[in-house]
Amino acid sequence: MNDQKIISLITAEKIEKRVMELADEISSDYAGREILLIGILKGGWIFMSDLARNINSPLICDFLWVASYGPGMKSSGEVKIVSDVSISVEGKDALIVEDIVDTGRTIKYLIDILGRRNPKSLRVCALLDKPDRREVSVEVDYTGFVIPDKFVVGYGMDHNEKFRSLSYIGYLDER
Ligand code: IMP
Ligand code: MG
Repeated sequence: MNDQKIISLITAEKIEKRVMELADEISSDYAGREILLIGILKGGWIFMSDLARNINSPLICDFLWVASYGPGMKSSGEVKIVSDVSISVEGKDALIVEDIVDTGRTIKYLIDILGRRNPKSLRVCALLDKPDRREVSVEVDYTGFVIPDKFVVGYGMDHNEKFRSLSYIGYLDER
């Protein structure tokens, strides 16, 4: 892909509004209980920072770095931990913060491995959901936007490591 024109799909204003709504919903669901936010790197970092700053509950934050996509736009289908969390999830109300649920493999893997570590509760908050591409069924507790089957970039998400710092979400024009 040489022509890398980005077509806007979700504006920065819409993202900001939706992230605040999600933070409000999470704040009221956890009702003052401490939450262990687990941001999934790299794609989830910007979403995590905006969400964290809008949740009105005591928070502790950690990150888990996984890789499933090789270069390009196709998942390898295999999920690998590049760097694990540093805080124990045992006995914690853990909330996974992910950029996008696509085939569902990454989230399923994360729920499986973190679930085995005896958290008090384990939920998932994903900014985007691409249901058309689902290969394994997963339960997502908080979803920002349901999007069509397009490869998106921006607001943390990349294509070959580029475009993560865009404040909006767009898709690549593949002409
Ligand atoms: P899944 O395992 O197929 O659900 O893919 C999840 C991971 O692949 C996400 O955490 C993203 O990092 C990446 N991913 C999936 N779809 C896209 C996309 O459209 N743009 C950028 N990254 C994506
Ligand atoms: Mg990701």
